[in-house]
Amino acid sequence: MEKTSKYQPVINIENHDTIGMLAIDNKGDLAGACTTSGMAYKMAGSIGDSPIIGAGLFIDYEVGGPTATGVGKEVVRTVGSFLIVELMRQGKTPQEACEEGVKRIIEKNEEKLDFQIGFIAINKKGETGGYCIQPGFTYRVFSEKGHSNNTASSYIST
Ligand code: GLY
Repeated sequence: MEKTSKYQPVINIENHDTIGMLAIDNKGDLAGACTTSGMAYKMAGSIGDSPIIGAGLFIDYEVGGPTATGVGKEVVRTVGSFLIVELMRQGKTPQEACEEGVKRIIEKNEEKLDFQIGFIAINKKGETGGYCIQPGFTYRVFSEKGHSNNTASSYIST
């Protein structure tokens, strides 16, 4: 008898638990990190974006870097963080690059946008940006001028 997978967990958009951090010092040196519990209900053996350099995190010391949260396999499909670095290298701001990175993922999923992806990014000048699919993705910016809570703009509005 043939067995078929009926793996179709109902996952809400809150199913993302990744924490990403990006830093730049006063010499312009960049660093980044991300840590995750991984997606709930994922199939045994599957892997998310966070441990894959270029997907969930990528830092290019000459350009800048992003990090991601959300459904990691979708970030892996576009090598999302590497893509955002390359977009910044071509002249996009961190905000513009995050928006394009999310839009590439949306293009592959237009029929079913029931998940969250969020990117934050920083460039060599210390400019930052953030963008996501679903509303409600927040990030915090600390600098010598103080700190701020930011709600990333989103593809789907509230
Ligand atoms: N973003 C974390 C994961 O997909 O595992």
